[in-house]
Amino acid sequence: MTAYAHAFASDNSAGTTPEILDAVARASSGPAAAYGNDTISAEVRRRLCEMFERDVDVLFTSTGSAANSLCLAALTPPWGSVLCHRESHVNNDECGAPEFFTAGAKLIPLPGDDAKIDPDALRAAVRHKKGDVHSVEPSVVSISQATETGGVLSLDEIRVLGEITEEAGLRLHMDGARFAGAVAALGCTPAEMSWRAGVDLLSFGATKNGTMTADAIVVFDRSLTPELMFRAKRAGQLTSKMRFQAAQLDAYLTDELWLRNARHANAMAARLQNGLKAIPGVELVAAADANIIFCRLPHHVTDGLLAQGYAFYHDRWEPGVARLVTSFATAPEDVDGLLTAISALS
Ligand SMILES: Cc1ncc(COP(=O)(O)O)c(C=O)c1O
Repeated sequence: MTAYAHAFASDNSAGTTPEILDAVARASSGPAAAYGNDTISAEVRRRLCEMFERDVDVLFTSTGSAANSLCLAALTPPWGSVLCHRESHVNNDECGAPEFFTAGAKLIPLPGDDAKIDPDALRAAVRHKKGDVHSVEPSVVSISQATETGGVLSLDEIRVLGEITEEAGLRLHMDGARFAGAVAALGCTPAEMSWRAGVDLLSFGATKNGTMTADAIVVFDRSLTPELMFRAKRAGQLTSKMRFQAAQLDAYLTDELWLRNARHANAMAARLQNGLKAIPGVELVAAADANIIFCRLPHHVTDGLLAQGYAFYHDRWEPGVARLVTSFATAPEDVDGLLTAISALS
């Protein structure tokens, strides 16, 4: 584990919180109905209805990729297309699962600064060859909030993309692997950042922000629920002992643990970002609104940090570019230690 003593590689590197561990232990006492028919699963749904200020349906998933792929499969026919940013996780990091789950729908990668879909590019794409039997039919738009480069779409930016999507008769999916971080950054309500801005289906990420193995799909258009349930079972996502996933999410949603964790992760990223700005030779390359920072580091600095046991991705996107990620588990001393190490190496 020493290689991860200084973990800035991913928010997936963090463990979980005592509240969640305790909830899982409590859920283990006695028998419970299987496949999500237990009382804790019902409680999670109640909590999410409250949090989103409306009736929603909820399906638990074990990964964000499963949530994304199931959502997209429910929102496009096999002859449809998924309009997404070219940097999006669905496009780059899910091993073709969206294409597989949709039985062959085509992902159309779109441009845009800071991993946000450019509205003009979307306006053109939603109309492109619509109704032309020789081409795929534009069906769903997928946006990531927070984005893959650590930015956050403003409510207006989401609304604009939502309006273009709706006017063209398409559906809107949000990859919310870092949903909590985005809500914390915007200081808005979960409802404002999702269904009120036009989102039909949300991949509600929680694993990166505290749970162990539990993410969820939040269904705003509840006519999609029956189909999603069959799809989830076929995808191996209908866990028999669902109460344990539910227990994680129940604790996550209790007393706003989700928001507290996200605020902390964002604060640690802000501390890191401020420190980096002051170090000569280090350049920030994207606006970090949530908990991911992309920066340019001299090669000898990267090598020196790696030699000291720092774990982070580098040279994956561009030579010399490093990605530093904070989480609910990052301590201020971890950030300060990294800054001191970078300063010394610079
Ligand atoms: C933007 C985004 N979406 C979705 C995911 C979900 O990934 P996983 O399937 O590993 O849980 C991730 C994880 O890195 C992500 O960064």
